[in-house]
Amino acid sequence: MAHQGRYFLTGPLACLLLGFFVQPDVEGANILGVFTSHNPSHLIVHMSIMKALAEEGHNVTVVSTSQPKVTHKSIKHIVIPRSAAEEKVISDGLTTLAKKKPSMVTTIQNFFGSLSILIHKQVDVLEDKRFTDLYKNKDNKFDAVVFGLFFNFYQAGLGSRFKCPLIVSWAGPPMVRINDAVGNPELIATVPGMNVAVLPGQAMNFKQRLANFGSSMVFRLLSFYLEMLNAQFYDRLWGKDPAMISYEEAKKNVSLAFCNSHAISEGPIRPNVPAVIEIGGIQIKNKPDPLPQDIKEFLDNAKHGAILFSLGSNLKGDHIQPELIGKIFEALSSLKQNVIWKWDDLKNLPGKSSNILYKKWLPQDDILAHPSIKLFITHAGKGGVAESQYHGKPMLALPVFADQPGNADKLVQAGYGLRVDLLTLEVDEFKGAINELLNNPSYTRKVQQFSKLYRDRPMSARDSVIYWVNYVLRHHGASHMQSPLVHMNFIASHNLDVYLLLSAILIVIAVISTVVLEFFWRKCCGGKGKSQKTAQNSKIKKH
Ligand SMILES: *[C@@H]1O[C@H](CO)[C@@H](O)[C@H](O)[C@H]1NC(C)=O
Ligand SMILES: *[C@@H]1O[C@H](CO)[C@@H](O)[C@H](O)[C@H]1NC(C)=O
Repeated sequence: MAHQGRYFLTGPLACLLLGFFVQPDVEGANILGVFTSHNPSHLIVHMSIMKALAEEGHNVTVVSTSQPKVTHKSIKHIVIPRSAAEEKVISDGLTTLAKKKPSMVTTIQNFFGSLSILIHKQVDVLEDKRFTDLYKNKDNKFDAVVFGLFFNFYQAGLGSRFKCPLIVSWAGPPMVRINDAVGNPELIATVPGMNVAVLPGQAMNFKQRLANFGSSMVFRLLSFYLEMLNAQFYDRLWGKDPAMISYEEAKKNVSLAFCNSHAISEGPIRPNVPAVIEIGGIQIKNKPDPLPQDIKEFLDNAKHGAILFSLGSNLKGDHIQPELIGKIFEALSSLKQNVIWKWDDLKNLPGKSSNILYKKWLPQDDILAHPSIKLFITHAGKGGVAESQYHGKPMLALPVFADQPGNADKLVQAGYGLRVDLLTLEVDEFKGAINELLNNPSYTRKVQQFSKLYRDRPMSARDSVIYWVNYVLRHHGASHMQSPLVHMNFIASHNLDVYLLLSAILIVIAVISTVVLEFFWRKCCGGKGKSQKTAQNSKIKKH
């Protein structure tokens, strides 16, 4: 009885006291994901974030332009697809890219030329009634909005649109736009960008720093142009709406930036502000799902091991020249290993061979986890490379465009694999590289060492997502965590005014010293000089 009485007293008291320390509950928040880019591999990363939040019990709604592959039964999907004509323009643009030698110049040319549709069409999605209903319909209320970054920073207005905290998701490591958004330092002398391959922890040499400086200037110029576009798009969408903040203010509204990277294992080692949350490998499951029966049998029965061959989701078979496909088939069909080949058009196969299994769609992560897989032949997209590294499988990279050549160089340099140019591929060269990777154990050993580092984290990528989104919800945008750099202009953030003042002071001191010194010089030496002269003059006169 006495005990009971004590509980009666301490129960509410404890609750009251705890209330001061325990954070308020953020269970079951309404979270909106807006992913308007076309890029399937980016969508996988964004959706993995939303899936983690749905599993945590949040009420998740997602707007995207294609049906996502990664999802959760409780997620509400709103798919606003592109028209067939738009799909064709994108597909043609990617084909042109795949047929040229990969370089930063051709990639940029295409993104602002034939592929500029990828930028412009994203605005249309936000004008679609299915999207505008989300804020016009008073029954909808969101506690946080996550948008996927892809040449669309005007979408930073979504925080103001839905009157809730704003989170950005980016499929790569922190870069210019992310750094600007959260006030992360740009350190071009120490942090190599995506076009300069340097081993983690290693300093860039002079040539690399020069290249890094150059590419960072190119990206700066591009981002000037993009910011002009963003301001126009923002104006078109919300410029006349008095309820909306300006684009200048919206740019400072980002609470968190989820980046699909893990600097400690992958490099570059760099300082990040607290709002940069690295969730590299978020799309990789801790435990693989069971494989489809045919794939499982094919792999289980591979006496000499197996190879997975995929050129990713962007590049379809018909984007690549037929002779090239023939050469790839010739090499792969002559191997002892079983090969799983990702191929879209199952009616037109590159050729039939008992060691090749064609599949239109593959659970790539689950296949790479299978012990029979000895090698991954890949276009070196960020997602696939991360999965292969996570599972400790060596790679043969056939990069095509965008960040792929850079990813390929990095994995070759780290000793995780080899690179062969897709456009100039020859059967012998291709087979030679495959055999080297299968027979020389050093590639597997190195990538397995990496795998240990990649998995060793204080919090899994999934737990980081949940923790930080809840944090932002608990603290209503967590603006206390923002880097002051977000709110500083160019002059202040580079201390130019301080340098100007100090230079002015130095100049004044220099001028005063000169005047004073000159004065004393004239006074003592100048006087003597004069008397000497007169003495000389008098001497001359004497003669
Ligand atoms: C989930 O969020 C949407 C959007 O705000 C809302 O319309 C819906 O009622 C919510 N569902 C639940 C179960 O809270
Ligand atoms: C962004 O704006 C939203 C809505 O006005 C607000 O709730 C949130 O706290 C802001 N976030 C930051 C970091 O300023």
